[in-house]
Amino acid sequence: MAISYKELGLVNTKDMFKDAMDGGYAVPAYNFNNLEQIQAIVQACVETRSPVILQVSKGARNYANSTILRYLAMGAVEFAKELGCNIPIALHLDHGDSYELCVDCIEKGFSSVMIDGSSLPYEENVALTKKVVEYAHAHGVTVEGELGVLAGIEDDVSHEVSHYTDPDEVEDFVKRTGVDSLAISIGTSHGAYKFKLKEGESVPPLRFDILEECMKRLPGFPIVLHGASSVLSKYVDMINKYGGSMENAVGVPEEQLRKAAASSVCKINIDSDGRLAFTAVVRETLFNDPKEFDPRKYLGNARAELIVAYKQKNESVLGSANRVK
Ligand code: G3H
Ligand code: 13P
Ligand code: ZN
Repeated sequence: MAISYKELGLVNTKDMFKDAMDGGYAVPAYNFNNLEQIQAIVQACVETRSPVILQVSKGARNYANSTILRYLAMGAVEFAKELGCNIPIALHLDHGDSYELCVDCIEKGFSSVMIDGSSLPYEENVALTKKVVEYAHAHGVTVEGELGVLAGIEDDVSHEVSHYTDPDEVEDFVKRTGVDSLAISIGTSHGAYKFKLKEGESVPPLRFDILEECMKRLPGFPIVLHGASSVLSKYVDMINKYGGSMENAVGVPEEQLRKAAASSVCKINIDSDGRLAFTAVVRETLFNDPKEFDPRKYLGNARAELIVAYKQKNESVLGSANRVK
């Protein structure tokens, strides 16, 4: 039996993005697939009074089971209330790759879906996205589309090279598909190795010129930034110190994300930074106490660090803190 997100206490992204646009900040979209991650996301966002998008990839859905995820999301809403603030929470499908997957998520309580047709020829992307929008809007669910391709790995789809979004396409795409937000490619990529830097080179700036062109063509329309982890050296160094090997990991500098968040970028996607913080603390805990075998100890420590990391994002990078009254 189909279930509506409204029954779970979730919201779609419509009002979230309107408020973010008006307020000059971005709503965090944090990926999760387990209990400790969702606990940390909710606690961090309640403590910073931030709206939040709980984001689930196809791979995460397969990992966690879609029924369990739905109850986790419902639990998140109740947990937030228990912690003292009924923050707006959306449950969003990240990088949906088919109409059928989007429909299945909508029927299982998602309040927002992304249909990622960015690797398809333009007309096919338009047709697929439009079809998803028609179904989603009939159920009050918001839809994110994508134009331009990010390098990196999204589930099973790996793109060796990126290509930037063409600003000449965005207006036509939004008009013809009816999407509620648009992900664009301006130089970010997925994962922990975003830029290949030679000795002494620093991270190249994002293509804010392309973002500005897109904003000109779509005034006041919500833009989404994927691949927005900063790959903080404190976590990479911890991973390397305690037995890991992540040489040359590099992310998007926080000041560039701050600049994006103040523009029409209303949603910023962060997955890798959560993975890094989590892994760093698990490694540290097990390294320092080789006799430890209670998962609550190392997962609990990792969860505590995630809360710190997400609060810092909301407060100092996305500007989403203190937006819920
Ligand atoms: O965009 C990609 C996200 O980081 C999800 O990654 O497909 O490994 O769950 P995943
Ligand atoms: P990161 O790998 O930079 O965290 O990007 C996540 C993302 O875009 C999820 O859709
Ligand atoms: Zn992404």
